[in-house]
Amino acid sequence: MCGIVAAAAASNIVPVLIEGLKKLEYRGYDSAGLAVIAGENIRRIRSVGRVAELASAAADVSAVTGIAHTRWATHGVPSERNAHPHVSGSIAVVHNGIIENYAELRAELTAHGYQFTSDTDTESIAHLIAAKLNVDADLLTAVRLACQRLVGAYAIAVIDWRQPGKVVVAREGSPLLLGVAADGNYAASDASALLQVTRDVIYLENGDIAELTPQGVRISLFDGTLVERPIHVSELSPAAIELGAYRHYMQKEIFEQPAALANTLEIVGGGKTIQPGIFGAEAGQLLADVDHILILACGTSSHSGLVARYWLEAIAGVPCTVEVASEYRYRTSVPNPRQLVVAISQSGETADTLAALRHAKALGQDKTLAICNVPESAIVRECALRFITRAGPEIGVASTKAFTTQLAALFLLTLVMAKLRQRLSGEQESAFIEQLRHLPVAVNKILELELAIEIWAKRFASKQHALFLGRGRHYPIAMEGALKLKEISYIHAEAYPAGELKHGPLALVDRDMPVISVAPNDALLDKLKSNLEVVQARGGELYVFADADSEIPESTGVHILRLPEHYGALSPILHIVPLQLLSYHVALVKGTDVDKPRNLAKSVTVE
Ligand code: G6P
Repeated sequence: MCGIVAAAAASNIVPVLIEGLKKLEYRGYDSAGLAVIAGENIRRIRSVGRVAELASAAADVSAVTGIAHTRWATHGVPSERNAHPHVSGSIAVVHNGIIENYAELRAELTAHGYQFTSDTDTESIAHLIAAKLNVDADLLTAVRLACQRLVGAYAIAVIDWRQPGKVVVAREGSPLLLGVAADGNYAASDASALLQVTRDVIYLENGDIAELTPQGVRISLFDGTLVERPIHVSELSPAAIELGAYRHYMQKEIFEQPAALANTLEIVGGGKTIQPGIFGAEAGQLLADVDHILILACGTSSHSGLVARYWLEAIAGVPCTVEVASEYRYRTSVPNPRQLVVAISQSGETADTLAALRHAKALGQDKTLAICNVPESAIVRECALRFITRAGPEIGVASTKAFTTQLAALFLLTLVMAKLRQRLSGEQESAFIEQLRHLPVAVNKILELELAIEIWAKRFASKQHALFLGRGRHYPIAMEGALKLKEISYIHAEAYPAGELKHGPLALVDRDMPVISVAPNDALLDKLKSNLEVVQARGGELYVFADADSEIPESTGVHILRLPEHYGALSPILHIVPLQLLSYHVALVKGTDVDKPRNLAKSVTVE
């Protein structure tokens, strides 16, 4: 999704803007641009494609005040004329989010003589601010007046060549933080863009507007009231966002899973029991009378919720529903005040998940828990309880280590709920904790299968379609495997519960439709084997990820890859790893842009 970097400093900020945009590339974008104050003018450079091209085009530019942007097209195709910044009179603006009343604003501003040169909603912000400068010549006031007219979610940064040395930024719904440094002040969509200049960051709240000069920052509300926001020292380490020896971030992040799991599970300590307090001081009390769990999430995060449903119902005996956030937020549902609402999100900023959480709360359901990888994110701040997965920054658009750490967190939630409901003996609890502790080692062993998976990947790369099968708690793993393949290799992939095969998808099975099956040695293995025989009988080619002790023999059209360990309830956390590796290697063979797949964004901050 769009990324913003802005700077007001004492020395040349163009390299900072460019470096900042590079750090935001992972969010997904199709064009980029920057604008700086150059004497009595705005100098603007925009380009379709990579930030590297913008950097070459801006090589001769030097300025002390500027704004920059990576655009992920929503209104209007990716093109230079739609790329940000948008200019009106003396000002330039960059924007992340969606302005819902842009058509109305556009009609109104056109009637007042403003000429639109793009198809974007953002251009109406630029003209609106220019119009407000006629009401009040102070940029901060003009932006404030403009914000009062905007409907939607946005983060914006604005410069005015008539008021040099100053950037005004505002936030309503889309992420934006400030970076405070000795030689200047900065703003960006996330801290990774500003590590190059400072670790001291201020997270803006919704409805905040800030004026940045080289000397300081001044934050106020949309009504003009001055506010103080605390400075946090970002713990993000530059090494965590470097690629190092890996070819792609996705590969790095797949291989970081043992460490990410170990870090996430550190909270359990060395003991044999876990306490509700790992979800927040109030957790014991808040979770005690929960009678249902509603999980809200999008994409990969919703798949972790689907796995958790099997755990929560089987181990903790608590009924659980998982709903895609974009559906729940607009559905008339039956609220239940005793229900625990769990929002799962890597970024903590996904617009639909945030809106679904707010919708759930508006219905009087205030028992809320965030499972999230970003401690200062909106979703974490808006939940009563929280569990921060410690996966570290995830840059690849296709989520990997965030998923497995979410699963670890959800398993801990299962154990806590089971304990509170007297469904877990001390022995069972310590056995599960032991298994959790062993996860990093078990994942490491699976990563050793990479070479064998690479060989399979070569056979897949020429296929147009693929079918993924799983049963029980591994059905969501099949779904996640199919999503990974779709996202980065552009092969059409669908997941089915294996038992559903005969009710439709079997009609598609032939030599050209590889069928990938997740086949752990669990209670459903025999049922799954019958499903697989049906595929084999129809001439389908089967690729089976089995456990070491799953008794499925290799034969014509049946290829087996055995995972080293059989892992009981936690098996989904292991079985997803080979599927991640498979899609990564298929994408490599196909030569797609693994970390930035076409049309997709890492952090989806618009609806
Ligand atoms: C985007 C990303 C996915 C992610 C989903 C939800 O679609 O490309 O990888 O699973 O958003 O994101 P979240 O940050 O809420 O987990």
